[in-house]
Amino acid sequence: MEKTFESIRRLVEGHNQGHLLAFWEQLDSVGRQGLLGQIAGLDFSQVDDWASNYVKNSSSAILPGDFGPAPCYSLEPPDGDMARKYTEARRLGEELISAGKVACFVVAGGQGTRLGFDGPKGDFPISPVKNKTLFRIFAETIAAVSKRYQAHCPWYVMTSPLNHAETQEVFRSNNYYGLDEGDVFIFQQGTLPNFSFDGKILLADKDAISCSPDGHGGSLKALYKGGAVADMKKRGVEFISYWQVDNSLVNIFDPLFVGLHAIDEAEMSSKALIKAEPREKIGNFCLVDGKVTVIEYSDLPEEFAEKRNPDGSLVFELGSIAIHIINRSFVERLNSEGFSLPLHRAVKKIPHIDAEGRLFEPAEPNGIKLESFVFDALPLASKSIILETKRSEEFAPAKNRTGVDSAESAREMMIARAAAWLESAGVAVPRKQDGSTDCLIEIAPSFALGRDDVKAKAGRVPKIKRGDELYLA
Ligand code: UTP
Repeated sequence: MEKTFESIRRLVEGHNQGHLLAFWEQLDSVGRQGLLGQIAGLDFSQVDDWASNYVKNSSSAILPGDFGPAPCYSLEPPDGDMARKYTEARRLGEELISAGKVACFVVAGGQGTRLGFDGPKGDFPISPVKNKTLFRIFAETIAAVSKRYQAHCPWYVMTSPLNHAETQEVFRSNNYYGLDEGDVFIFQQGTLPNFSFDGKILLADKDAISCSPDGHGGSLKALYKGGAVADMKKRGVEFISYWQVDNSLVNIFDPLFVGLHAIDEAEMSSKALIKAEPREKIGNFCLVDGKVTVIEYSDLPEEFAEKRNPDGSLVFELGSIAIHIINRSFVERLNSEGFSLPLHRAVKKIPHIDAEGRLFEPAEPNGIKLESFVFDALPLASKSIILETKRSEEFAPAKNRTGVDSAESAREMMIARAAAWLESAGVAVPRKQDGSTDCLIEIAPSFALGRDDVKAKAGRVPKIKRGDELYLA
């Protein structure tokens, strides 16, 4: 250990991080071993770059010199040729799902601080009548899709070291929600060290570096390193349907999206919605040097965000909702080429130990967490398409407890979508004067995966009265 210690000491001192070994003399052999392992696991060839370019440098991302709005497949095909393409894409998407070539992948490694829920976000109860958790809704959707297409639809779940064991336990104790345990693959993402404002890596304890999950962009490495890609290869999976754990309305297996992506031979594609307002807090789909690129809302200057077309629509109207199709071969290619995504800094309150070894719990932000974002891989794709979708059909992120983008608004949107599906099938739904539903409705994935399924089953729906709590399964 002495020899390893010496080389590690030289390494950390050479990178201005000698304080990581400040408590060495106080550690027992287990603590020493653990700390050396953590330091050895850090990519020191990058630490200086992270400290100077992301930690100490607070200027926002440099805007590309020349960029415009990205093209997009619209909600409805605009003409006959496109209508035929959509029909063919839907057919191909269904064929690919039936053949087991499409897997689904949820990123669930976040800390969910805004939701303030004590447990993995996926275990948050959200459905309006049965209070099903997000994980249960997804599992039931996967089961319904598997049944419809007579296919194996494996589910990949990314956790982080902070919630991995708990997530595994949630799945185990719920008996994998009725799915085959062998079709659920849970793996962990990596971490990145937390820094003080002056570029020093923080210690969580005398023998532990303070780390945070490396962002949803870490998924592209974790899929590979954690064995998910190898598992997909064994199963013949070619396409990965990606979404975020807090979106209760997601359409996990969308044949049209899969089909358009496959027909166009794209490597990574996205769904978009029309922004609710120019400064909505979602990324903007742009075209930079011919490549689809997401520019964060905070990086898009006001004059671009507010710019309008002659018809009044926003020039940069397409917002990213973190729904992607990613080719397995794209993930393999990136990893074999040794790619890296840019990092983003977040100023946070980070508990750590001080120079005397005492735990410091900051009342104010005191450091920087670094993370990468999955959409930064879009420009690395040889081709990337975008398909427009409707917010009310597919996007209800439960970021907070109440208010905008909350568990409360997601629940309301689940009821609203169910009501809209029923009404389009000719079923009367009681409404209040303000237009909101005067009843609670929950449609289980086993009953319908979309509007058309409801049409086919409308005869089975009982008359809905004011104040009813209707559950359709
Ligand atoms: P958010 O950016 O909403 O973060 O993640 P969060 O951690 O869930 O919530 P806050 O910001 O602490 O309140 C968007 C999606 O990306 C996943 C999350 O689980 C969520 O599905 N994610 C985020 C990861 O899987 N890993 C990360 O390191 C960060």
